[in-house]
Amino acid sequence: MADVVVLSVPYEGQLDVLADVRSALADKIVVSVVVPLRPPQVSRVHAPEGGSAAREAQAFLGADARVVAAFHNVAAARLADLDADVGCDVLVCGDDPSAKQLVMDLVADARATGFDAGPLANASVPEGLTSVLIGINRRYGSHDAGMRITNVKPK
Ligand SMILES: NC(=O)c1ccc[n+]([C@@H]2O[C@H](COP(=O)([O-])OP(=O)(O)OC[C@H]3O[C@@H](n4cnc5c(N)ncnc54)[C@H](OP(=O)(O)O)[C@@H]3O)[C@@H](O)[C@H]2O)c1
Repeated sequence: MADVVVLSVPYEGQLDVLADVRSALADKIVVSVVVPLRPPQVSRVHAPEGGSAAREAQAFLGADARVVAAFHNVAAARLADLDADVGCDVLVCGDDPSAKQLVMDLVADARATGFDAGPLANASVPEGLTSVLIGINRRYGSHDAGMRITNVKPK
């Protein structure tokens, strides 16, 4: 069994999926890429009751699993094409420093620059930013709008 598990399902299914695999996730790092979209209004930011999808996942799993939120603002096609420049930065939020560093390393492996964006409580921002980027894609006729942090030298 892996040490790191990526949670990549639609928001409406995440608690059902977590319930199915909960016991297997004890002591794991869970990377949440889940965005709490509310179809059909996917370009409108939706703040879930628990603050963010990632915090709801952490609350459901308890302290044994370490949830780190990342990759929300990268279009899937950008990650799928291993020859293409990802072309955007990745905000990484989590409460456990070593888990967060491991995910930052995974971001680098995925040819992107990760930025430590603070505690898991901050995951609401990159999650919500995805809806903003979806809206920009619609208004500007693009399909993979991204985001960069400027004027900071990455570590
Ligand atoms: N696509 C993107 O560019 C992108 C970018 C950033 C973040 N995200 C986030 O990443 C997550 C996955 O996105 P995606 O585009 O890969 O979604 P997706 O293709 O709709 O779903 C991914 C997989 O989740 C499972 N699934 C679907 N609905 C489910 C449900 N109601 N309950 C349980 N499992 C379900 C399915 O697995 P099986 O086929 O095995 O059943 C499906 O293949 C979402 O939270 C999305 O907001 C996506």
